[in-house]
Amino acid sequence: MASNMIENDIANHELSNVGIERINWAATDMPVLNSIKKRFDKEKPLKGITIAACLHVTTETANLMITLQSGGANVLLCASNPLSTQDDVAAALVKEYGISTFAIKGEDNDTYYKHIKSTLSSKPNITMDDGADLVSVIHNNPKEYSTSIVGGTEETTTGVIRLKALSGENKLIYPIIAVNEAATKHLFDNRYGTGQSTLDGITRATNILWSGRKVVIAGYGWCGRGIASRARGLGSNVIVTEVDPTRALEAIMDGFSVMPMEEASTIGDIFITATGGIKAIDTNHMINMKDGAIIANSGHFNVEINIPGLQDISSSSKVTRQYIEQFTVRDKKINLLAEGRLVNLAAAEGHPSSVMDMSFANQALCVEHIIKFSEKLSISVHDVPKEIDEEIGRLKLSTMGVSIDNLTQEQIKYLHSWTTGT
Ligand code: ADE
Repeated sequence: MASNMIENDIANHELSNVGIERINWAATDMPVLNSIKKRFDKEKPLKGITIAACLHVTTETANLMITLQSGGANVLLCASNPLSTQDDVAAALVKEYGISTFAIKGEDNDTYYKHIKSTLSSKPNITMDDGADLVSVIHNNPKEYSTSIVGGTEETTTGVIRLKALSGENKLIYPIIAVNEAATKHLFDNRYGTGQSTLDGITRATNILWSGRKVVIAGYGWCGRGIASRARGLGSNVIVTEVDPTRALEAIMDGFSVMPMEEASTIGDIFITATGGIKAIDTNHMINMKDGAIIANSGHFNVEINIPGLQDISSSSKVTRQYIEQFTVRDKKINLLAEGRLVNLAAAEGHPSSVMDMSFANQALCVEHIIKFSEKLSISVHDVPKEIDEEIGRLKLSTMGVSIDNLTQEQIKYLHSWTTGT
């Protein structure tokens, strides 16, 4: 399909050949999504449906978009973060697949929102979000944008938090499935995906040796756990900061040190935020830090580190290397990575394909579910149907060549009874 036939706004159309090869490479590690694509190709369950997607524009996302298109959908894509777009992928989507894509790596805030509005101008039936920016634009102007929408999906923890707040204020206007809540999503993507890709992003940005470093991780949710475990695997001494007592206990019993950020900030060499909140690292912490400290964020938004505060307390700053801005704070150098945006997608390529396989299989099957059951879905934030979650787990295992046991009739009966005791 010629790129001039579809609307788009991308950095460089000439990158499409590189993008095509990289998208194909990712597909080789996404067998579950591929099997869904094959079925979608035959059954066309999304025929006539328009989907507006706001996701990180990566090779894995491209494979999801192609799968939805195989199902008969008209798909439009914009970025869910100004720094996460892979420009070659955007070019390939436009040129090779005829998918309207609006995403440029490094786009400014106005362009970011202009791109969101461009996808919405298609009058979508389904929205697919990663962080709820699409939903937020729609809910700020429902008359203009919501008329054709029957449902949506949300990929990430931060997006689900925002949606629940919207729903809690009775302002949600269509049903949304929280893909993040599927076990086959967060137990793998958030933990192993974020764990590996965060260290990958920091390594690519800095080329540091992890061994022997004191790594402070703010937040011990699934992402924080993954990062902590991978940093330990590379020989770092890991300190966790938390506000939730149960999570703090888990971190201790997993063998990590736990302390307040005020204390950790005087000790750490590398700081990584994964809280989903704001100002996990604030100016008082940055004043405490050692000369040469490195700070990176792996949470969805760039608010976990108080960057305006860092600018205020520093006398100067300079870019010392791509993705490293070095601030002079009193007599010390503090290194902020990737403008405090999610370092795994800004400085590396995001999670590996193999783990996105399950997350995006959930996305594809949830879209199909919404189309099938749109009239029955209440206007609220829904969990992924258990059948979909379990099916993806089964499919992933089978693609790995792993089989598992089945309960016998006797075991099933026992598990449903109360009579057998001591
Ligand atoms: N989120 C984290 N990693 C990702 C990837 N590789 N593609 C799309 N979204 C992601």
